[in-house]
Amino acid sequence: MGRGVVELRAQYPIPHHPASSRLIQTEIIKKTEGGLKRWSCKLLEEQEYHKRGPRWSWARNRMGNPMTSNHRLRFAKIPLNFGTGAIPALGFGTLIPDPAETRSATTNALRVGFRHFDCAERYRNEREVGESLQAEFATGAIAREDVFITTKLWNTNHRPERVEPAFDASRERLGISYVDLYLIHTPFAFQPGDNMEPRDQSGNIIYDRGVSLLETWRAMESLVERGKCRAIGLSDVVLENLAPLYDTARIKPAVVQVESHPYLPQTKLLEFCKQKGIVFLAFAPLGHGIRPGPLEDPAVLAIARQSSLTPAQVLLAWAIQRGTAVLTTAKTLERARENYNLCEIPEVAVDEINRIQIRSRLNSVVETGVPGFIAKDG
Ligand SMILES: NC(=O)c1ccc[n+]([C@@H]2O[C@H](COP(=O)([O-])OP(=O)(O)OC[C@H]3O[C@@H](n4cnc5c(N)ncnc54)[C@H](OP(=O)(O)O)[C@@H]3O)[C@@H](O)[C@H]2O)c1
Repeated sequence: MGRGVVELRAQYPIPHHPASSRLIQTEIIKKTEGGLKRWSCKLLEEQEYHKRGPRWSWARNRMGNPMTSNHRLRFAKIPLNFGTGAIPALGFGTLIPDPAETRSATTNALRVGFRHFDCAERYRNEREVGESLQAEFATGAIAREDVFITTKLWNTNHRPERVEPAFDASRERLGISYVDLYLIHTPFAFQPGDNMEPRDQSGNIIYDRGVSLLETWRAMESLVERGKCRAIGLSDVVLENLAPLYDTARIKPAVVQVESHPYLPQTKLLEFCKQKGIVFLAFAPLGHGIRPGPLEDPAVLAIARQSSLTPAQVLLAWAIQRGTAVLTTAKTLERARENYNLCEIPEVAVDEINRIQIRSRLNSVVETGVPGFIAKDG
């Protein structure tokens, strides 16, 4: 090993996930002058893990101190039961209206260490995200296979014959040959066409009653069956949409992406997902950054003080430790670093946050299909 290089070996079960009893995540991290670099990361069947024995234990760093489990959250991956591979529990969201900010935020996030990116046709910036990803891939520092990329089908493309063209257009804008995860952005079908928010003269959204969610799902299944994407899922659904679709789906949803934070823990939906082996992917884990909100909750502030973490780090740790994957968005390098450099919080702190009684949904997209926090279509 070269000077200044410390090899760290880590192992841990995937936190609170149904598969955690049988899968162990192992990784070797090398610390170089340039920072921490993940050397290898494998999911091992538990039996195989035990065969390998103590070789896979927390190593000691050069100072002789045992490694803390700081890396557990940022490198945790949740296996996809209905699809290929595993999704990094910590993801970066690209809902950033400004194209220049999209580019810099994506590059920062990649350089800081994020390996899971959430995109959407509706964000109108897949091209900027794609170019930023490609530029980093071109340096050879990061390989395409190391990054998990999601994008989403918009509401105006629910008609089965529109699904594949919409998928191909997203994939081309992102400049990638395969998509790790494709989601139906919302269960609401809008009038098909180029206008992303078709409205009547009174300003009301024109819905498309001629297509069911199951028909759209069948077209999504066909993308997986033909090898065009590796996993499919839904976003902005409630249990009443999800449960019947799950029952009839040939290919079950691998991931469900919904708003979730301590003020909207969605416990029933999370339990359903855990039972069925669906990954629950939380957006707005910082409550969209709105203040007052979870970032300023007294319980969160107290835990942050006690553990020398920031409120954002506490909220992200809570989300992953309760068994969800999570998407956060930061425009500056400092915040991207802060949100990536996670540390576990004690179980008592997780319980304390679980006891918060305030309930507040911040994004009404789940009720109408019209997203909050995105500029209106022109
Ligand atoms: N499926 C859907 O309908 C849906 C809806 C919404 C979002 N999403 C996805 O979820 C992603 C996450 O977005 P979100 O808004 O929900 O994420 P969020 O992380 O809850 O909120 C982001 C906001 O918090 C601020 N922030 C970021 N890091 C912070 C920190 N360390 N301390 C204090 N404030 C901080 C950001 O400010 P700065 O920007 O100034 O850094 C930004 O205003 C989106 O990008 C998108 O990919 C999906």
